[in-house]
Amino acid sequence: LPEDVRSLLLSRIKDVADYPKPGVMFKDITPLLADPEAFGALTGALVELAGRYGATKIVGLEARGFILAAPVAVQAGIGFVPVRKAGKLPGATLAQSYELEYGTAEIEVHAEDLATGDRVMVIDDVLATGGTAEASLSLIRRAGAEVAGVAVLMELSFLPGRAKLAGSLAGAPLDAL
Ligand code: PRP
Repeated sequence: LPEDVRSLLLSRIKDVADYPKPGVMFKDITPLLADPEAFGALTGALVELAGRYGATKIVGLEARGFILAAPVAVQAGIGFVPVRKAGKLPGATLAQSYELEYGTAEIEVHAEDLATGDRVMVIDDVLATGGTAEASLSLIRRAGAEVAGVAVLMELSFLPGRAKLAGSLAGAPLDAL
């Protein structure tokens, strides 16, 4: 990212201490979304990445990933596919569970939304432990599609998310803006 865009985006991400629980520093992107210049710059950078990846589908990860991924899909002129938390999609789904700090979570995708030949770009706001992104890559591959790349607004580099994801990326790029 150009330095001026990078500092604009950084200035619109608010650190909220002790949310949602004590000891956690929450990264609030709502000021960025409320600023059309910042949101537009972010969307533009993601559209450019989609082109570089040669993506033919955009997957957004619930819920904040949806907000970023949907305008990118429209601007890039390719389809948007939601990966949802379990129990939200009405059709036939593929499901993948993954580990949380305490317990497990499960995400799903409509099986018919992804097919062999698709090159899929995954978009989310934050890469933390990498569990959510890793599970989404597994869904994409199980649907027969190819992972073109993963793009996030922020990577929490003090967590081992990038290392955890390395195997599942299998050479595909991971870009943290
Ligand atoms: C957050 C974030 C990512 C995920 C990253 O979502 O938006 O999707 O966690 O964490 P991980 O790398 O450790 O898996 P959250 O589950 O809070 O959902 P939300 O977007 O619906 O608030």
